[in-house]
Amino acid sequence: MNANPGVITDLTKAFAFPISAYDGLVEQFIKELHEGLHYEQRMPMIPTFVYELPNGQEKGVILSLDLGGTNLRVCRTTLSGNGEFDITHKKWTISDALKKGSGKDLFSWIAERIEEFLSVECSPMQVEGNYPLGMTFSFPCEQLDINVGKLLTWTKGFRGMDVVGHDVVKILQDCIDARHLNVTVNSLINDTVGTLLATTYKHPGCEIGIIFGTGTNCAYLEDQSEIAKIKPNAANFKSPTNQQLINTEWGAFGNTSGALPANDYDRQLDARSSYPGKQLYEKMVSGLYVSELARSVIHDLAKGGQLFAEGSNKPKADAELGDLAIKERFDGAMMGGIEGDESPNLDAIEKHFLTTYNLKTSKADRETIKYICQLISARAARLSAVGIAALIKKRKMLTLSKKVIVGIDGSLYNKYPHFKQHLEGALNEIFDAPTVKAKISLITAEDGSGVGGAIAAYLASKHASSHA
Ligand code: BGC
Repeated sequence: MNANPGVITDLTKAFAFPISAYDGLVEQFIKELHEGLHYEQRMPMIPTFVYELPNGQEKGVILSLDLGGTNLRVCRTTLSGNGEFDITHKKWTISDALKKGSGKDLFSWIAERIEEFLSVECSPMQVEGNYPLGMTFSFPCEQLDINVGKLLTWTKGFRGMDVVGHDVVKILQDCIDARHLNVTVNSLINDTVGTLLATTYKHPGCEIGIIFGTGTNCAYLEDQSEIAKIKPNAANFKSPTNQQLINTEWGAFGNTSGALPANDYDRQLDARSSYPGKQLYEKMVSGLYVSELARSVIHDLAKGGQLFAEGSNKPKADAELGDLAIKERFDGAMMGGIEGDESPNLDAIEKHFLTTYNLKTSKADRETIKYICQLISARAARLSAVGIAALIKKRKMLTLSKKVIVGIDGSLYNKYPHFKQHLEGALNEIFDAPTVKAKISLITAEDGSGVGGAIAAYLASKHASSHA
């Protein structure tokens, strides 16, 4: 490899996550899950007001909205029972201006998109009254009911401070009403809850839903008696099923304990981020941040004359590096493309650096770049497995006779080359391969956010009509 072997050794050390580190970190994760169920100001562990899981026989045509980290989708799902569904959707990329601008503007843009979708896709749909709409909102919200949720904080680079602390359902409903649309937002769920619901619809018995995408998070089914922080006078103290889904917001793991094995690159990324000191696990695991880590390492080596130097070891100035010198101008899809380049000459990497940053690479540069991406994504996969293992152990799921079904969605999991295999490999290292094979089933959720949102809206309508 081109970069000085000492530099490569240092990077390998900095991003290593040795097998010996698993047990301690899994134990710490269990501790933080547990503390979050007892106290505020810890891992959020948000009770969701979702008590019931679908049985696969639900039927109906339902709208949902999916506001993730990168895109907005409006969906119409037909649930036809027997775990079958059909989904039609329209997708828009959320511009940087919308992410960083006022929250009210973002919501009014969303209502406009709902109107656009209704006019194209829903004219044949006849309903009496309003269409129920399930809102899948992939940010931490304190739920006060199934259709009430106060935004606790933005994540993934969003910044509309004017809506933080406010009920996002009401804000969206007001924007919908201002457009006179016959739509009622009847439920609010996190995308991990959606992933869990959508997986359970097809695979009854699933009790864990996870996103490894732009961000990361997990929801799971918990016994009500374990959720010690719910006060006896709280609306959701008495769950009809004695269980409810918890949105862990596990991206916050390590925020206060300092338990994560962070290196200088992690610390610099955190310091440069919109929310320093927050989402520290997410910053080592999810797509938005792992690609930014890779960019900053590549940028650093270039500035030290270790890359793109055409044999001269001459440091590159930022002006020569173009967008590579700019935060977040190297995304998960690009990083995946690099790691997935199996051609002998690493042609895709060569083309990428030439066309995107106007940088010439030697074969050795390309090997170094690919190695950096592999180091960072492999660490992300191992840390991801730590979260899954902690939850399985906390719920003592391996002692049960049934299989542990984990529904997973998100671009990192679905599209990033080898992420799935690394994650499975890491679970084998934490437990052991025969146990994982016999007892744990990782299932790719089919459109967790869209279908899950529809199922949540279905369950909320059913619940409302049975209490009418
Ligand atoms: C958010 C979660 C979300 C996750 C995956 C995180 O940044 O805080 O609410 O579930 O991203 O989209």
